[in-house]
Amino acid sequence: MNQSLPSKFALRGDLLDFAADPGWSVEPGAAVRFRPDHWLLVEDGIIRGVHASDAAFDASWTRIDHRGRLVLPGFIDTHVHAPQLDVIASFGAELLDWLNTYTFPAEQRYADAHEAQAGAERFCDALLAHGTTSAVVFPTVHKVSADALLAAAHARGMRLIAGKVLMDRNAPTALLDTVDSAEADSRELIERWHGRGRLAYAMTVRFAPTSTVAQMEMAGRLMREVPGLYMQTHVAENRAEVAWVRELFPQARSYLDVYDRHGLLGPRSVLAHGIWLDDEDRALLARTAAQIAHSPSSNLFLGSGLFAWRALEDAGARVSVATDVGGGTSLSMIRTLADAYKVQALQGVKLTAWKALYAATRGAALALALDHEIGSFEPGRMADVCVWDWARGPVGQRRLAVATGLHEKVFAWMTLADERHLVQAFVGGISRVRRDTS
Ligand code: GUN
Ligand code: ZN
Repeated sequence: MNQSLPSKFALRGDLLDFAADPGWSVEPGAAVRFRPDHWLLVEDGIIRGVHASDAAFDASWTRIDHRGRLVLPGFIDTHVHAPQLDVIASFGAELLDWLNTYTFPAEQRYADAHEAQAGAERFCDALLAHGTTSAVVFPTVHKVSADALLAAAHARGMRLIAGKVLMDRNAPTALLDTVDSAEADSRELIERWHGRGRLAYAMTVRFAPTSTVAQMEMAGRLMREVPGLYMQTHVAENRAEVAWVRELFPQARSYLDVYDRHGLLGPRSVLAHGIWLDDEDRALLARTAAQIAHSPSSNLFLGSGLFAWRALEDAGARVSVATDVGGGTSLSMIRTLADAYKVQALQGVKLTAWKALYAATRGAALALALDHEIGSFEPGRMADVCVWDWARGPVGQRRLAVATGLHEKVFAWMTLADERHLVQAFVGGISRVRRDTS
């Protein structure tokens, strides 16, 4: 849906965003900006400010009244695979089997331009329907699938970071490129898409086992050559995978070190998982300002392991949150945060709603060097905004009715809500999703 709105509108609801990292306390300090029953002012797709509900502002602002609903910045999913909607919820495998049994066969379909386009549009619409307005995304190895994905995001005005997957070994022949073809395709796609509208290109080394050293060096070379390129990959997700990387790269100190040796770690590097890391790896992440995209539903579903969020943060490294569909089991960042809480609970750590929601909004924006554009309601940010029901159905309604403090209420929402709670999603001030509430 693309509902045209006046160029100036004001959105009324319970506004929640973050002025800074809230830390691990349930007490809502100054970092937590909860403004119940306020107006968010949007002009030409940009957030202009916030007014109390009784403040006078002139009639040139069209009113959109969502009073009694929760208004958040659009979620940022920092690691998700577009073609893997086809394999979400596949039974009975850990990572390497899962790739061979389900994922690699499914990804072969996206060599076809029609499949790639239909898949890309389905995926972008699904992201928006889950309240995710920005994402860091893997298509497949096929140039046409990257093209289709970036075109679909562009048509919807979404902030998307993506790039053709690089894999020149250890995968089915139909999914293999070469160093030369990968470089030529990447250059062509960079030329066409990098910096266009709200898009950026990411060198996308699938993971160390499926790229040769020469291919990783090529990716590192392009990253040094082209300003603003991102890098996305997987690291230390599964024990059998880690053992395989050790065999393939005996000279590397660790799995993460493989990427460092080839110039792939930097402030625009997004590495999914990071479960099986040690202190030196954590220090390396902090030093390079690379981020880990924590993917809790995937880690649980594929039996990969429990992510040590606090250890990474204590080491000074950045953490964002991701669905990792189709290893992950939902595109909903709300469900993902609820799973993140459980992963921490298994390790005796209590993930607050503040820390979780920060990581899925402003924290991710900062880690991606996009804080000036997304992740909060600061004036000047793009109006990527989602309106949510606080509760749907008797269980959520009852739980919220008896909740006392603010954290209790928001935490219950984060734990019980899902995409069915989404009422409206704006991308750059344009309404892209609107549920009928009449
Ligand atoms: N490692 C390499 N490829 C993949 C993938 O598609 N999903 C996950 N979860 N891990 C990977
Ligand atoms: Zn992944």
